[in-house]
This record gives sequence, structure tokens and C-alpha cells, in this order.
Amino acid sequence: MRLLGFRCFVAVALLLGLLLNVPETCNGGKTSAFVRKDEKATDMPLDSDVFKVPSGYNAPQQVHITQGDLVGKAVIVSWVTQDETGSSVVRYWSEKSKEKKVAKGKYTMYRYFNYTSGFIHHCTIRDLEFNTKYYYEVGIGFTTRQFWFITPPEVGPDVPYTFGLIGDLGQSFDSNRTLTHYEMNPRKGQTVLFVGDLSYADNYPNHDNVRWDTWGRFTERSTAYQPWIWTAGNHEIDFAPEIGEKVPFKPYTHRYHVPYRASESTKPFWYSIKRASVHIIVLASYSAYGKYTPQYKWLEAELPKVNRTETPWLIVLLHSPWYNSYNYHYMEGESMRVMYEPWFVQYKVDVVFAGHVHAYERSERVSNVAYNIVNGQCTPVKDQSAPVYITIGDGGNLEGLATNMTEPQPAYSAFREASFGHAIFDVKNRTHAHYSWHRNQDEYSVEADSMWFFNRFWHPVDDSTSYPSK
Ligand SMILES: [Fe+2]
Repeated sequence: MRLLGFRCFVAVALLLGLLLNVPETCNGGKTSAFVRKDEKATDMPLDSDVFKVPSGYNAPQQVHITQGDLVGKAVIVSWVTQDETGSSVVRYWSEKSKEKKVAKGKYTMYRYFNYTSGFIHHCTIRDLEFNTKYYYEVGIGFTTRQFWFITPPEVGPDVPYTFGLIGDLGQSFDSNRTLTHYEMNPRKGQTVLFVGDLSYADNYPNHDNVRWDTWGRFTERSTAYQPWIWTAGNHEIDFAPEIGEKVPFKPYTHRYHVPYRASESTKPFWYSIKRASVHIIVLASYSAYGKYTPQYKWLEAELPKVNRTETPWLIVLLHSPWYNSYNYHYMEGESMRVMYEPWFVQYKVDVVFAGHVHAYERSERVSNVAYNIVNGQCTPVKDQSAPVYITIGDGGNLEGLATNMTEPQPAYSAFREASFGHAIFDVKNRTHAHYSWHRNQDEYSVEADSMWFFNRFWHPVDDSTSYPSK
């Protein structure tokens, strides 16, 4: 009788565990037991409504904006005209003044194998007022299109600001769900920090660049209205000598401009911006980063410039994660980690966001900088000066989810789950930021993982969490 009772208890406990989706405990943190439909992700067909060409002769399409200077008083507006050159002018006016101003940009185009791009316009609008809504208009004649954006508040230590995090987006049905969930998230991201791998056009025969155009039209509903801060991933390289394409990053650099010169970078693949209370450093996993390289020398000079009294938060974006416990792209970020991790600890980076692995993972604050070839100290250790590493490569591209994880879960891994989604990093003031991860299967407001970040410079106390974090 007592045995039967125990069996019943075990059965009920197991059932409750399944129903409540209790995560299983491993050596490390938590591996979520959330069960999702693990179907092969497929791209939306070319005639999908999200890819529709806007009506009107030579109508501007693929409109997107990004920050255009170091502090957020400038915006780069980019768009494509397909039928003819058209105009590279942007007309813009603030909600306050209504006086229309004009900025003149330039256009470019490129050929890739048997593809010829449209006319790709880039125009930087400068001397904007902070914290102001601006309307802008591109196109000429009957085919003008109007959009708007809101400039960030002036850079300062206690300025609240909300960033969205999206990576490895692609253009599948899941990608569309991710973007919708980001747009509908009640936490209202004001700028997207995009961690690389945009269109996945290179998965098509001859890197069919038509899929760069469709991606631009698909994302326009967000990218035309708020800045997306770009990081280059491996799907931006488009290096294909077998079809005569020997210039890496050709489509990406023609289509997506970034303000790299403002931070004294010499290439668009690594640069920094300040926005509100955050200093954001974008690094290039696929450009040389060894000692003496331009990226190394730039980062070496950049980190001492970060003024935590002006921008308390220090965020790094890169594509290939340094801490990744999935069996995909395992240790691909290792050589960059070896080069730069001591600096990240020294300069107390708050958080590093990466993509590449098509899943979600959040680390503890750990470092692995003690190893010197002969001392055997090659295990990550808890370190309150170290960043939290977050893999957010779960945007939903056609390659599908990374479901296979290394077992047991390493001690450095706080939470991991193979679901598509996005995240929000919500800076409150110089000491606190609320972070949340949102999986696509949930209602828009559900936080599938969350954590209160304590700033490493102003409030460097232990902010590690035990699941479920509230
Ligand atoms: Fe990638």
C-alpha cells in the first residue's frame, strides 16, 4: 500500500513537472524542457505579402535607418529604387517645427554573378535634435513614401532606453513571427541591436541576391521606423570564387551602411556608437582580429575611451559566440575569445550579445583568462568583472533550430533553450537594466527568461539568477 502510494506520488510529480514545464537540473544551470514544434523552417515564397513591392513607378523600397554618428544626432537613411536612378534626397521635418529640410545623399549599385542591383541610396541626416520625432520622405514625383523615427535622448548616465535584440533572422515564416513578436512586445524596443546574419541569400543558388531585396522589403516595417544597429555575420561574407565573386561582403556593404568613421574605425565591420546611457561596441568575427590587425588596434584604443560616467552601460555585439554549449559552431568563437576576453574583464563589459547558433543561451558571469599554456587553468570561473554572454541567434532563418546540446550542461551556462525568439534589454538607470527573452510560441508579454542586470561599474554586485527568475 505504501509502495503504491509512493508510485502515485512519483507519477503525479512527473505529470506536474511536464505540465508546469519544470526545467531539468544539470551540472550547470537550466536546460529548458519547453517542447516546441521542431519543424523544418521554410522561407516565405517570393509572392508573400511581406515581400510586396510598393506601388508606384520607381517607388522607394527596402527603406531602413541606422544611427549616423557617434551620439545619435544623425541618421543614415537607405533605400532602393528599381526602375531608374531617381533621387537620393531625403526631405525631413520635426514634429515640433514642421519646416521641411533637405539632405542629399548618394547612390550606388553592384553586380553579383548574374544579378544587378537596383539603385541603392544612402543619405545621412545630421544635426537632429535629441528626443524628437521626425518625419521623412524619400522618392520623387508621385511615388514619394513617408516614414518617421524618434531620435534618442542626449547621451547621459541615467537615461532610460530600450533595445531589442534580434539575430540570424532570415526570411522564413518563423522570421516573420519573430519580427511580429518584437513589434508587439509591450516593452517597446526603441532600437534593434542586430547580431548578424541578415537575409541568408547565400543559401540560394549563386547566392541569389533577389533574396537580399526580399529581406529588405520584409524588414522595412521595422527598419524604416527605428534604427537597426548592424553586425556582420558569416552570411554577409558572400565570398564565392567559384562563380567569380572574390570580394567579401559585397552585397552587405553596398546595402547596409554604418557610421564606422565616427568612432575612428577604418572598416564598417567594427565600430562603436553611444546611444542614451549605453556605449555599444560592434566587433567583426569574420575580419582579422589577431594582434597588430586593424580591428585589434582599434579595440585596444577604443576600450579606454569608454567613459562609464557618461555611458554607464557597455554592450558588445559580435556574431560568433565565445560561450556556447550547443553542438553547433562549437568553439568557432574561441580564437577571438582568447584574444579579447582579458580586455572585456579589465574594462568590465556588462553584456556580450552574439548570434550564429540558432538557439538561445545565457551564461553566468564567467571568465576564462587564467590559462597560460602550462598551468592547466582552462576552466571558466565565476567572475564578477566578466560580462554575461547571451546567444540570441534564434531569429528563425531557414536553417532551422540548433536543438542538440552538449551534455552535461557546463557550469557557466545559466539557461538554454532551442526556441525561436528575440530579447529586450531595458536600461532603467545607471545601476539597473531589465533583460528578458521572449519565445515565439508565447503571448507577446511572456518572459521565457529574464534577469535584472546590475551595472558592472556602478553597482557591481552579484546579479546571477536562479531559474525561474522574476
Ligand atoms: Fe551565422
